[in-house]
Amino acid sequence: MNRDQSNLELVRNAWDAYHADYMAFHLKEWPNFFDHFRSGGTMLDSYLVEMLGSVRGLRLLDTCCACDAKQAFSWANLGAKVVACDISPKAIEIARENAARIGIDNIEFHVAAAQTLSPIGDSSVDVVFATYLVWYEGLALACRNWRRILTNHGKLLIHTEHPVTTCFTEENGVVVVDHTYHDRAPIHCEFTGTPLTDRHGGWDGNEDCVEYHHTLADIMTSAIDAGFRLDKFYESEPDDSDPNSGLPSDVAMLWVCS
Ligand SMILES: C[S@@+](CC[C@H](N)C(=O)[O-])C[C@H]1O[C@@H](n2cnc3c(N)ncnc32)[C@H](O)[C@@H]1O
Repeated sequence: MNRDQSNLELVRNAWDAYHADYMAFHLKEWPNFFDHFRSGGTMLDSYLVEMLGSVRGLRLLDTCCACDAKQAFSWANLGAKVVACDISPKAIEIARENAARIGIDNIEFHVAAAQTLSPIGDSSVDVVFATYLVWYEGLALACRNWRRILTNHGKLLIHTEHPVTTCFTEENGVVVVDHTYHDRAPIHCEFTGTPLTDRHGGWDGNEDCVEYHHTLADIMTSAIDAGFRLDKFYESEPDDSDPNSGLPSDVAMLWVCS
């Protein structure tokens, strides 16, 4: 197994171990999760909906849907024909159960890595909703595959943590740099859950994992080289719970096929 494959296994195993508890944390945070989606609700940042415009009737692929699949359910409730992928078999198993419980029966689920999407045919989707670039190294490969699966009039919406903001952390009330912006070496770490988990008492699993830092230029160059043209760019407001107050938490980019 080469380095990329073994790192991919680390990520898959860490998430596989976490997803059942992650779903339980979602239900603590949103006790009416199933009713919300059953009654047509959405859970999407409004700027994403505005950037993309109407998705009614479009075939939209979510690259990292997770167990909750809340963005996938949201796009479906907005009228899209959703294809929901995740690298973790456990995530897809739980997401399928959630869809059945909500009564959404037209989402196509696949276990697939976002950067290859091998079960997905060429020119078969209208929108790729690509999230959580932090979990994979091969951005150029990912962008080439997103272009491969998109129709010629397709759109790519990338939504991810802001690469500048992620270089900072808070220590004793002071914002300090904890990652060198141009350092792309894989970051080996202990996977201890997500901010959602931290809000509900933490997670007692401790899985070896690996994350990747991509600069804004890495993301944009990969998309341009794969045949995309930038249409819209958005930096979000700081997250209320973000210690790096003043810095945008996320970045969103809408790309069209050039
Ligand atoms: C933070 S969760 C997304 C949760 C949820 N959709 C949300 O935004 O609240 C990130 C997801 O990415 C998945 N993931 C990690 N690496 C991946 C990869 N290379 N390809 C596809 N999915 C991946 C994980 O299994 C996990 O479900």
